[in-house]
Amino acid sequence: MILSPEEEAILAGEQGETRARMLEILVALGKVYGARRLIPIRSAQVSGASYKTIGRYGLEWLQQLDARVVVPTVLNPVGMDRERWREMGIDPGFARAQEEIIAAYRKLGVSLECTCTPYYITITRYGDHLAWSESSAVAYANSVIGARTNREGGPGALAAALTGRTPEYGLHLVPKRVPQVVIAVEGGIPREDSAWYGALGYHVGRTVGSRIPYFVGIRPGRDQLKALGAAMAASGAVALFHVAGITPEARIFSYDTSGLEVVPVESREIGKLMEETPVEAVALGCPHCSPGELGEIARLLAGKVIRIPLYVFASRDVIEKNRGEVAVIEASGARVYADTCMVVSPVMERFRAIMVNSGKAFSYVPDMCGAAVRLGTTEECIRVATGEAPGAA
Ligand code: F3S
Repeated sequence: MILSPEEEAILAGEQGETRARMLEILVALGKVYGARRLIPIRSAQVSGASYKTIGRYGLEWLQQLDARVVVPTVLNPVGMDRERWREMGIDPGFARAQEEIIAAYRKLGVSLECTCTPYYITITRYGDHLAWSESSAVAYANSVIGARTNREGGPGALAAALTGRTPEYGLHLVPKRVPQVVIAVEGGIPREDSAWYGALGYHVGRTVGSRIPYFVGIRPGRDQLKALGAAMAASGAVALFHVAGITPEARIFSYDTSGLEVVPVESREIGKLMEETPVEAVALGCPHCSPGELGEIARLLAGKVIRIPLYVFASRDVIEKNRGEVAVIEASGARVYADTCMVVSPVMERFRAIMVNSGKAFSYVPDMCGAAVRLGTTEECIRVATGEAPGAA
């Protein structure tokens, strides 16, 4: 790799031991993936934030770092709402360890907005180079915004944040961003609802693995694109997708997809995922809710009372800016939590079956929460939570 004089100086320790080690990580990654140089990044998003996922070993690794980030850096969701962890039923020992992790990131200068939707907070533009690590955020940044990021591991994203650079390979390079397989959604999607796009993404992710899909036959909005990408990133390893006539690069580059494998998808295949099984709780907000999604939940819950626990997850910033909607949701008995989510927090582990409106949560809940999972639209989830529809165990 060709390094600039400044990068050579960092490696030599002129900016401290931590930065030197972080740059070593990036150079090693670059060599593995054939990068020719490091490039500047606009922002970073760092996973490995919940005590549930990184444990004591990860905490100790973070605590020995001694530098501050040089680009805006957002943390992934942690294991609890930082202010309301007691009412979530979080064990005080877990909370103490989680606070230590948060303190370690604070010392590094990482913003404690703990979210997988950093694009609602930091301005991210078409063509920006990023080092983001949460898979749904990566899929959204690449596909919906047209920014450029590989799916970084936690240490790689943190190394990029502390040095302001990342190795130039993979999805940072335009020729590596072209479609590799066509997904033909025959007859369109039955309902223009995020849960149906999540089901489509869950199904397609298992088929395409890490290839770059090019969808035809659908017209999703931004929240549906978020659901589609999150699910494909979870059931497969999709970090970038295109939708004909919708996503920015599909419009700008007018890809010639003749010659690519075409995978047809029929709506009955994805409808099979919407099986009705009894549940003990409902969880919404995977990825974290947008303002529009919070508004929809508030509209559906207005004046109603829940019969089984209903949790909603969003970033603290989105919650603060939508206090009216949050008040309506919580008046029903539901809870809206910041900083965390249904998967990285232990809060959902006490339930044997959970209903979600997200293809990504549908993919993760069985392993990460040890619970059976049911997928439904936001409206169906709320009807089950309020007892208007059968389905509560
Ligand atoms: Fe975000 Fe947690 Fe889902 S990190 S994408 S809400 S699993």
